[in-house]
Amino acid sequence: MFHDFLSIHDLTPYQFSQIMDLTREIKEKPRRFRDRLKNKILAMIFEKPSLRTRMTFETGMLQLGGEAIYLAPSDIQMGTRETPYDVGKNLERWVDAVMIRTFAHQIAVDLAQACAIPVINALTDILHPCQAMADFFTVKEKIGDLAHMKLAYVGDGSNVCHSLLFAAAKTGAEISVATPAGYEPDPDIVKKAVLDGQETEFKVLITSDPSEAVQDADAVYTDAWTSMGQESEKAKRADIFPPYQVNAELMAKAKQRALFMHCLPAHRGEEVTDEVIDSVQSVVFDQAENRLHVQKAIMLLLIEQKNKNG
Ligand code: CP
Ligand code: NVA
Repeated sequence: MFHDFLSIHDLTPYQFSQIMDLTREIKEKPRRFRDRLKNKILAMIFEKPSLRTRMTFETGMLQLGGEAIYLAPSDIQMGTRETPYDVGKNLERWVDAVMIRTFAHQIAVDLAQACAIPVINALTDILHPCQAMADFFTVKEKIGDLAHMKLAYVGDGSNVCHSLLFAAAKTGAEISVATPAGYEPDPDIVKKAVLDGQETEFKVLITSDPSEAVQDADAVYTDAWTSMGQESEKAKRADIFPPYQVNAELMAKAKQRALFMHCLPAHRGEEVTDEVIDSVQSVVFDQAENRLHVQKAIMLLLIEQKNKNG
């Protein structure tokens, strides 16, 4: 089993399916799990805003019988007021697990190295693994076979895109990514995904052509053009990204009835039109719901294992 949940890259394909299977069980029979984390406490460090992540971690912990404590960006001031190492060394004395949403990925890594308790990545500048697990769970529910599906990602080569690449590599899905030049996914991440994908039937295409990417796709995914922390680039990006908008014309080039996916928050009229996000093909709120179930599975696996190992 894994000690922390920082990146899908760290999971074996078996561990990936273990999370998927437990998520299904929890979603189908939530009451069976209601005391499983009784008296356990999750610390939630947020250095960026959130709706879904905070709600689903906190609700998830309560539904498992435990509690969650929210630490706002102004509370810890990681790296300024205190180092990630010292924060970790304090938290492990009080709580059973930590969830962190931060900027540099290294902060989450340093925190995990300092802590004897599990650390869960709830978004860094380069990865958003809980999101991609929920997304793949959603695709599995809607389409069934992950190994034979094609996901097209159109827009910024963001943290969400990176985690989708790793999820596709672990499951053997096909993924095509279309971004403007200069906004491609990090080549190191693509390289690692390709290595991971040698164990599966993973296929990847990186292109600048959205029409090419969505061809024969079972699902079309997009994310904000400007991620949290990139606000100063908003105007520049608003000029570059419009050809990458997911609209009805682009959706028509994917498979008939292809799913539309988005991690949310959506910027309607920018990366996606109302027509697409509000269509019957859109599964964005299923993705949001599944964040809850998948994170309950991750917390359960990590905290119960930590207790077993002492
Ligand atoms: N998708 C996602 O992580 O949403 P929040 O930023 O609202 O948590
Ligand atoms: N790429 C986006 C995802 C938000 C859930 C961001 O980092 O802001």
